[in-house]
Amino acid sequence: MTCSPRVKAARRALLAGLFFYSAGTLPVLAGDASAGADVFKQECAECHTTKEGKNKKGPSLFGIVGRNAGSLDGYSYSDALKNAKWTWTEDKLHWYLSQPAKQANPGTKMKYSGLDDAKQLDDLIAYLQSNH
Ligand code: HEC
Repeated sequence: MTCSPRVKAARRALLAGLFFYSAGTLPVLAGDASAGADVFKQECAECHTTKEGKNKKGPSLFGIVGRNAGSLDGYSYSDALKNAKWTWTEDKLHWYLSQPAKQANPGTKMKYSGLDDAKQLDDLIAYLQSNH
């Protein structure tokens, strides 16, 4: 079967669309937010809440996905986080939480040794994403 250039172009556009769609969203779909709530309790709740405006040792993680690093009014960040230039996307959180905090963000006062279980990490990030 031969295809007209128009059909070929349409196919290419569709494939490109699918590629970007899946690249951008699959990691989120993979996570289970309710399992992530348990991971949060175990790993993070000692120092963080997901309630708006409620800081503990660490800043509130309410709405953390999409928030600029070190940007919460009323929380006293280390210079390392205050000067950080990134926004917390799911990818960035993946990177940050999968390794010791001091390695990802030298000078941070977050004492966390990293979560190396990929499934727990996906679930945790899905949970964080659900708190807005
Ligand atoms: C021992 C306490 C402690 C634990 C455990 C901990 N954190 Fe933190 N976290 C902090 C502190 C303190 C800061 C502020 C760091 C700074 O200013 O350098 C912070 C900062 C952060 C930030 C940056 C927030 C912002 O506003 O930019 C994120 C994201 C974060 N923590 C996520 C987590 C997650 C998710 C977990 C669990 C996997 C976790 N943390 C475990 C203490 C902790």
